[in-house]
Amino acid sequence: MRIILTGGGGQLGTYVRDELINSSHTLEAWGRSPDSGTHPFALRPVDLCDHATVRSALEAFRPDVILHLAAISKPALVLADPAEAWRVNVEGTRILCDWCRVSGCRLVFTSTDMVFDGNHAPYREDAQPAPANEYGRTKGQGEQLVLAIPTGMVVRIPLLYGPTRCNRPSFYDHSLNALDTGQRQLFFEDEYRTPLDLQTAARLLIGLSESQAVGTVHLGGPERMSRLELMKRVARKLGIDERLIGGNRLNDHPGIEPRPADTTMISERISELVPGVPRPTVEQAVAQMHPQRLIPEG
Ligand SMILES: NC(=O)c1ccc[n+]([C@@H]2O[C@H](COP(=O)([O-])OP(=O)(O)OC[C@H]3O[C@@H](n4cnc5c(N)ncnc54)[C@H](OP(=O)(O)O)[C@@H]3O)[C@@H](O)[C@H]2O)c1
Repeated sequence: MRIILTGGGGQLGTYVRDELINSSHTLEAWGRSPDSGTHPFALRPVDLCDHATVRSALEAFRPDVILHLAAISKPALVLADPAEAWRVNVEGTRILCDWCRVSGCRLVFTSTDMVFDGNHAPYREDAQPAPANEYGRTKGQGEQLVLAIPTGMVVRIPLLYGPTRCNRPSFYDHSLNALDTGQRQLFFEDEYRTPLDLQTAARLLIGLSESQAVGTVHLGGPERMSRLELMKRVARKLGIDERLIGGNRLNDHPGIEPRPADTTMISERISELVPGVPRPTVEQAVAQMHPQRLIPEG
């Protein structure tokens, strides 16, 4: 299968590229900027806002499926430049939809649990989006474009965790680095998610790309938990002193935009569509992702 991966240099895209190294698929990975490293799937610089370049790159490669990860993916960055976020998250998605509608190429679009306002959890795959922040609004608009084409799939991604493999540390890396140097860290005890590790998310996305399914799929992890519980369980598995970890509450940090309190997703389709990739517990995922750091059991 011929796959184009957008956002190939991001947190999740880097894991997807790694997973595809030993596959039989032919991959072209796009990034806004070229690679600084030496990955076997080097990034081709394609700016999604440059529609002429996007079209000619699609025509040249003629993919069977586009795995569309590129986005302005942080609510704070979206808020800092909403016009740019709409250009990338909505207009950049529209140009891919237009090409897929004509060519029959499949489009797998990574959306987010933040299309939900967090007041009506748990959310099933047929729940209606009602975003509470601008990031969620851009992704919700992207979802509508994708679901309007016959070959479109929307994959709602939850909070992802795991060590970064790209050149930008995530909340997870920052937190572990701070804890490793004895710095106390606070996490929300009343913000609930269904977190999933990056490696499993990448494997499931590849499995979904290989399927012929369309419509909406939730990629929630196997358990609902607060950020505080997530990081306590990660710390415990890694032998980090749990006393360094404390809780705070959403109301302690009123922001410009509301943070959805509970975006728990019910993920009914994924185990049927990709049966060979189970979703691990936090402890199992940490063991897979940090084999060199584990403390002996018992
Ligand atoms: N990580 C999560 O917890 C999470 C949760 C829910 C949903 N998602 C969704 O999953 C997808 C991947 O997330 P991620 O965490 O991997 O995001 P990320 O690390 O921010 O990566 C996004 C990538 O998009 C690229 N990009 C931005 N603007 C572009 C443009 N104009 N043209 C081409 N590429 C552009 C960026 O390239 P540069 O690096 O060159 O800027 C970046 O590598 C996103 O669609 C996100 O909304 C992620």
